[in-house]
Amino acid sequence: MNADLGLDSPRVAATLNQLHRRAKGDRWILLRASPAALGAMLTGRSIFKAAEPYSKNAYIPVDPDQGRMLYITARAIRAKTIVEFGTSFGISTIYLAAAARANNGRVIGSEREPTKVKAARENVADAGLQQFVDIREGDAMKTLREIDAPIDFLLLDGWKDLYVPMIDMLAPKLSSGAVVLADNIFTFKKTLRPYVHRMQDRSNGFASVTLPLGHGMEYSVKL
Ligand SMILES: C[S@@+](CC[C@H](N)C(=O)[O-])C[C@H]1O[C@@H](n2cnc3c(N)ncnc32)[C@H](O)[C@@H]1O
Repeated sequence: MNADLGLDSPRVAATLNQLHRRAKGDRWILLRASPAALGAMLTGRSIFKAAEPYSKNAYIPVDPDQGRMLYITARAIRAKTIVEFGTSFGISTIYLAAAARANNGRVIGSEREPTKVKAARENVADAGLQQFVDIREGDAMKTLREIDAPIDFLLLDGWKDLYVPMIDMLAPKLSSGAVVLADNIFTFKKTLRPYVHRMQDRSNGFASVTLPLGHGMEYSVKL
């Protein structure tokens, strides 16, 4: 039997519990951001840019079921190179890194907010997973451009207007059978419609389905 305890490793479980508890404070931050986001929506501006000053301190994480989905999927396909667009405080990164440890792999994260990068690195270290994680600071459209191995697993969870440009940039680097999980399909239905169409159109090289997990996750496999 594999001695790796995965998500049941005491340090991983304790860190995730604590972070999920802290993330509950997001509701107050998001409440303060809602007038700016609504104003942007009504005037046709990007709600992501409008909400940015507020989201600097918000976790906006995957929920525990989604986290377990990340973990078991990465384990099932034995993903070695796992890439994440949108690390925030590192909750999803920890689920992925627990799989990376079992798979002898690594996670390349990405986050534009320097304070979040610092906190995410500390959180990953608290979980005992730092040697499996490289969090790249800055705009992910630049920091994820150069990846030196085929990508086996990709999580899309940064700002939603970048999912299509991101998959355009990274699709040629995905290995055959790679999984792409994209969050918030129901939350940002209109913004993400072009992404869902692209992934569900077989001629683009993926088989894809929207899962009713969390706020909707698009689950796509590179054919
Ligand atoms: C929804 S949160 C990610 C949550 C994280 N995946 C988790 O489950 O804990 C989105 C994050 O993406 C970051 N982000 C958005 N656009 C980005 C970009 N172009 N480059 C890097 N990070 C970006 C935001 O700063 C924010 O922290």
